[in-house]
Amino acid sequence: MQFFLDSALVDEIEYALDVFNIDGITTNPRHVQVSGKPFLTVVREIARLVEGTEKTVSVEVNPHFMTYEEMLPEAEKLAGISPNFVIKLQCVEPAFKTMEALAKKNIRVNCTLIFSAMQALQAMRSGAYYISPFIGWKETNGEDVHGFIDDIITIRDNYAFDSEIIVAAVRNARQIIDAAVMGADIVTAGLSVYQEGIQHPFTQDGIRKFSEFWDKTIYE
Ligand code: E4P
Repeated sequence: MQFFLDSALVDEIEYALDVFNIDGITTNPRHVQVSGKPFLTVVREIARLVEGTEKTVSVEVNPHFMTYEEMLPEAEKLAGISPNFVIKLQCVEPAFKTMEALAKKNIRVNCTLIFSAMQALQAMRSGAYYISPFIGWKETNGEDVHGFIDDIITIRDNYAFDSEIIVAAVRNARQIIDAAVMGADIVTAGLSVYQEGIQHPFTQDGIRKFSEFWDKTIYE
């Protein structure tokens, strides 16, 4: 299973590449705004971090764009910046035609803001490279996410669609493990989710105990 970092903070991405060897990066307008940098500046900086690798960077088209005529040229412009870029399009009607046109030009699309299996199915039919179901938002809303992710994976496998499933808006290690057990291809989460996920109080306790024994032992 692949781990993506959900961030547009260059320092954080560098750290996650180094320490966790993350497999890709997902950005969104909130992450870019948090970076405090202009959109094109920050996506170019992120592109440089993964240059020469297979790691993808999902970069979102202006969310105000609601027509094929607006989405297509912007997606092409962004894709031209880096071969690592996968273009994020929101799951709305004009995005499907845009995805098909981009797929013919070998430009990869991450269909984002997916909250139903029906949305995922249509995005797969339209040739989306990534499908991004947001589980954190659904859980906060009291909705089931197990059946949701399971259905999307089953549909993908039933029809042998090429799309990869990114379980997104992940808030904790349990959700990562659930996604892995269900067979999702990728999760994307903030750095703290990975950092907290590999912590365990027994590990800390063990380090303390073993250090005490170590200190009472002669090395050679
Ligand atoms: C995924 O690609 C999204 O960027 C992300 O998971 C959105 O969720 P969040 O901003 O609520 O964490």
